[in-house]
Amino acid sequence: MKPLRFLITAGPTREFLDPIRYLSNRSSGKMGYAIAAACRQVSPHVTLVTGPVALPAPSGVKCIPVTTAAEMASEVFRRYPKADVVIMTAAVCDYRPRRVAGQKIKKTGQRLILEWEPTTDILLELGKRKCGQVLVGFAAETVDLERHARAKLRRKQLDLIVANDARAFESDTNRVTLLFADGRVERLPELPKRKVAREILKHVRVLVTGGVAGAGE
Ligand code: CTP
Repeated sequence: MKPLRFLITAGPTREFLDPIRYLSNRSSGKMGYAIAAACRQVSPHVTLVTGPVALPAPSGVKCIPVTTAAEMASEVFRRYPKADVVIMTAAVCDYRPRRVAGQKIKKTGQRLILEWEPTTDILLELGKRKCGQVLVGFAAETVDLERHARAKLRRKQLDLIVANDARAFESDTNRVTLLFADGRVERLPELPKRKVAREILKHVRVLVTGGVAGAGE
């Protein structure tokens, strides 16, 4: 069997207000980088589209650095048709300022009201355009973790969603629940992200082969 082609995203995006200010989030990229490294153990074809993080590129992985949600969307969409598995670990900003000021916004002493517009929901689009890929999403929640994750799994037409408490941001460990499209649920204990990555990969490879674990190398 041919090695699988993995497309993985990681880290936050940044949405600029002016040349020096942006909205972002606390994503460290650690989970996505751990997944890319685990995938590289089973395939030479691993592409990591990564937002700005302070991590070294995993060895042997093709890294595509991006900054904004729009850049991430275009790099992911371009590579999607050739991917067998897509794992969207990135914490993509849902909104961006409607206008980006060309020069630094000066303070006026008054309140500043900004208008925000939605960014593209990359994973939702991937779900609509699916042609055989196994699609894996992440759900970071602060309340009702499994209910929200299940709704995202359905809405984005995913095969698997990895639900984690938003407190896992920046941490070296993660406690995740895997929710599958067929209704199965697997709750993992708190583990180092490296081990969580291996568990996710194990399940992804079973999904790819339609139930035969161990194939795909
Ligand atoms: N995602 C994406 N594009 C976006 C936002 C999210 O592809 N613009 C992906 C994330 O990479 C993740 C999944 O969708 O795999 C769920 O992201 P999350 O932020 O938990 O949920 P949202 O769909 O953004 O919904 P909400 O913010 O309302 O919880």
